[in-house]
Amino acid sequence: MSNTNAVLITGGAGFLGPMLAARLLQDASYNVVLTDLQIPPQPNGVTKTTNLERVAADLTIPTDIDRLISLRSQWHAIFLFHGIMSVGCEENPSLSTKVNLGATQSLLVAISTISQNPRPKPRVVYASTQAVYGPPYTTNGTITDDTPAAPVGVYGTHKLIMEAHINDMNRRGLIDAFSIRLPTVVVRPGAPSRSAAAFLSGMIREPMAGLECVVPIEDRSARQVICSPRVMIENFVRVMRAPSNAMPEHLRAVYMPGISVTLGDMYDAFEQVCGQDRLKLLKTEKDAEAERLLNSWPQTAEFGNAMKLGLVFDENCVQIYREYVDSLSVSTS
Ligand SMILES: NC(=O)c1ccc[n+]([C@@H]2O[C@H](COP(=O)([O-])OP(=O)(O)OC[C@H]3O[C@@H](n4cnc5c(N)ncnc54)[C@H](O)[C@@H]3O)[C@@H](O)[C@H]2O)c1
Repeated sequence: MSNTNAVLITGGAGFLGPMLAARLLQDASYNVVLTDLQIPPQPNGVTKTTNLERVAADLTIPTDIDRLISLRSQWHAIFLFHGIMSVGCEENPSLSTKVNLGATQSLLVAISTISQNPRPKPRVVYASTQAVYGPPYTTNGTITDDTPAAPVGVYGTHKLIMEAHINDMNRRGLIDAFSIRLPTVVVRPGAPSRSAAAFLSGMIREPMAGLECVVPIEDRSARQVICSPRVMIENFVRVMRAPSNAMPEHLRAVYMPGISVTLGDMYDAFEQVCGQDRLKLLKTEKDAEAERLLNSWPQTAEFGNAMKLGLVFDENCVQIYREYVDSLSVSTS
């Protein structure tokens, strides 16, 4: 293991952490430490576990952070994926302050103390969100690299605060980091997240399991920016490998590639991939709070910085849904 590149992934029992671990472990040159509040389950598709360590740690506890960081003498990369999602933050802002701000800040400070000369500092990849954007920029046009952040919500606000902190720590040479603003990743398997956008995954996942899904928005022209797990994982790896000087030292946030789709596009793709019969499992029940948060997020975007970093894109909603449906037949075969 000493000759392999050690990668720490927090949020290791969540949605994206285990998928990234599985992807990295296809390459024998990586060893992965996956951590969450409880010992994370073995990621799907991982059979050989010699290069995987699963660890329980509460990142709000400083000694847990020290224990994690000291698991390896050298780190190649550290992915910060832990956190409280949008609805959870809105319901409990002080928990978000504790976890999304406090724990992340403590972890960054611990990372800045890692000394591994002559090896370069570990690449830190911080999972931010497109919820850092807000009106009027989201409602009046296309998001570009020059669009100011204007979050409407505790979640986006706390992510933006951490981005600013990362920019400054990176500028001071304390860490080597990128903040990546994720669009909504669809389709999330398993249980729904506590995100206002959870239904975007639910509206295919639940009907495919024979269950109803409530769609909280009536307007079929409402747009969201989404991306598939496959593309997101590929882009995580590309950001991990991107040269530090690909972006200015004090501007480290990248909006990750997504595609802009209307609710109507999603219904059409659903019918094409899952069949007309299952459409009756989609029920519309307007939820004003979910609608408020979702309508404040980007609707269309250009991804200049992402393209400069060589990141990849999905084709369309049908491809994203088809990949999910295909993954179901793989996991049940
Ligand atoms: N999935 C998406 O569509 C999406 C979109 C935008 C941003 N993001 C961001 O990407 C990251 C990963 O997303 P995800 O969907 O995999 O998240 P997730 O909600 O599935 O996982 C987050 C994990 O963080 C853990 N956690 C919470 N408090 C903790 C603590 N005190 N100590 C240690 N772990 C703790 C939780 O137990 C959970 O397993 C998150 O930071 C999220 O904000 C995700």
